[in-house]
Amino acid sequence: MRKRIIAGNWKMHKTAEEAKQFTEEVLTKLPESEKVEAIVCPPALYLENLVEMAKDSNLSIAAQTMHEAKEGAFTGEVSPAMLVSIGVKHVVLGHSERREYYNETNESVNAKTKAAFENGLTPIVCVGETLEERESDATVKIVSDQVTKAFSDVSAENAKQAVIAYEPIWAIGTGKTATAEDANEVCGAIRNTVENLYGADVANAVRIQYGGSVNPKNIEELLSMEHIDGALVGGASLEPASFLQLVEAGA
Ligand code: G3P
Repeated sequence: MRKRIIAGNWKMHKTAEEAKQFTEEVLTKLPESEKVEAIVCPPALYLENLVEMAKDSNLSIAAQTMHEAKEGAFTGEVSPAMLVSIGVKHVVLGHSERREYYNETNESVNAKTKAAFENGLTPIVCVGETLEERESDATVKIVSDQVTKAFSDVSAENAKQAVIAYEPIWAIGTGKTATAEDANEVCGAIRNTVENLYGADVANAVRIQYGGSVNPKNIEELLSMEHIDGALVGGASLEPASFLQLVEAGA
């Protein structure tokens, strides 16, 4: 049985005070369940405080991105070792917004994925197609290609620990969710790709999240699908009550 994983990606939202209030409230009400892992991904600025607040709880705090280099002249960037040094254990990589606005490519996502594993971080590797790609029936090809490239030169032992987030770009922040069946079909194709790369053992262990306009109303149906092990949620993860409902759906 794969443990479900519900992650709230705050993107560029919340002041320091709002981040603190959210975390205080969530920590008092978070369901205790072996079935679900709950993660919040705040802006990098708040990581250290939130890791400290969430220590000894079942809430994990993840970074939204990182640089792949150990250190160097990369103004504005944060390295894997820096994240590890403040107790971060997970990092979102290759989000479509990073690919679109910050020139991340399959190659740089691969470099970051390898750097995450080298530093003992669990990557949440994001993949997903544009509307145009979906309409031209290229979804499975695009997504399989993104997965294959992201995991190039990653060992089976590491790949087994990875989380892959399938986020169709046209469903992000638009209120349009893929139907549970469509999302499951693509998540199944992702698992198939992992199986072709590493075999059934790794494919059965890898957790695959769906992301794109997930909310407390549609999450249960998504989670009932064979290949969907969780959700990566933007807008609906920003309020404590809504985030808690999402986690409860997975518990
Ligand atoms: O990473 C989460 C994401 O991109 C989905 O955002 O607002 O559609 O839930 P949203």
